Amino acid sequence: MKIIDVRNKNKKEVRELLLPAVRTIKNGNLVVFPTETVYGLGADCFNPSAVNKIFLVKNRPYNNPLIVHISKISEIEKVAIDIPQFVHRIIKTFWPGPLSMVLKKHPKIPYIVTSGLDTVCVRLPEDYIARTFISLCNTPIAAPSANIFTRVSATDIEHIKKDFSYCKEIEYVIYSGRTKYGIESTIIDCTVYPVKVLRYGALEVEKIKRLLKENIEEPKRFFYNLKLKKSPGLFKKHYSPIKPSFLVKNLIKFCSSLSKNVLQKITFVCSDTTKNKLIKKFGTKLPIIHYGDKPKEIAKNLYLCLTLAEDMNTEKIFIEPPKKLTGLGKTIMDRIVKATGNKWLK
Ligand code: TXA
Ligand code: MG
Repeated sequence: MKIIDVRNKNKKEVRELLLPAVRTIKNGNLVVFPTETVYGLGADCFNPSAVNKIFLVKNRPYNNPLIVHISKISEIEKVAIDIPQFVHRIIKTFWPGPLSMVLKKHPKIPYIVTSGLDTVCVRLPEDYIARTFISLCNTPIAAPSANIFTRVSATDIEHIKKDFSYCKEIEYVIYSGRTKYGIESTIIDCTVYPVKVLRYGALEVEKIKRLLKENIEEPKRFFYNLKLKKSPGLFKKHYSPIKPSFLVKNLIKFCSSLSKNVLQKITFVCSDTTKNKLIKKFGTKLPIIHYGDKPKEIAKNLYLCLTLAEDMNTEKIFIEPPKKLTGLGKTIMDRIVKATGNKWLK
């Protein structure tokens, strides 16, 4: 796994640096590349053996379809057919950006990409490096997040190395620093109308709602997608750290009932405000990892915080849920619920 560092490079230098990784894709191998949400593990979407390597190295079940990434709007024609008119309005407003859309699949997209479904999930990333890379590859790129199946998605290089440093199939990692949003794209099903939210993500659903004049259906509960046939890959326990992790609504109150000895065996993942309160009450000895206060900060830091929490010398992880369940708050809650398997301590 060689690292191509594209930080602080001009456009011409970037294009040159990317060439070996582009050859890798053409040869049917895998490349990790940045997007504005999380890092992706990419293969040529029209090459089934290359796509199969993604499933092998991630240990990903075949019933979990992949997102196909394109580099410009017109490329959607290579990937999807019968695109409804309202989708063009969505594209005009939100692409390029952290929004993936499920559409009717083009017959040429191999079934390994879509897990046998007749639909395909498409995304045009806003990240400049991602789009330059896909465009140089001259083919849409099938890519899940660059992490082992069920583990936290990668937002930085240490994260990628942790999961894949010994993996021979990944020839290159294109590295451009920490990802901008730190959490995956929002996924909507556009084969139905009103459209359906399949996964909360970096684009706030409220924004899509305004554009579609409310013609969007949100999941009723956080485990909405468990039984939904259309998204076989949206599993209950996902995005999870290795250690037992729990949601704790009121950390300060809950911790007051625990002995110092017990407290020191726990890593706390919480807001900056709660961190300050914990320190005031219990001193500076507690292992605390703070994710910020504003939803944007929390989304960006959450996966990093969870990976750091895994590495701490403690037995369990206690995670504080977001205060507000609107906008990115829903996305953050969705991921924390999945990280803990919806285990609450009250
Ligand atoms: O931000 C992102 O979306 C990142 C970056 C790399 O683009 N990708 C990502 O991919 O999160 P992944 O594989 O970790 O999640 C893709 C989700 C899966 O849960 C899968 O079930 C769903 O997209 N999906 C893909 N194709 C689908 C389809 N045809 N119908 C319904 N759901 C689909
Ligand atoms: Mg993933």
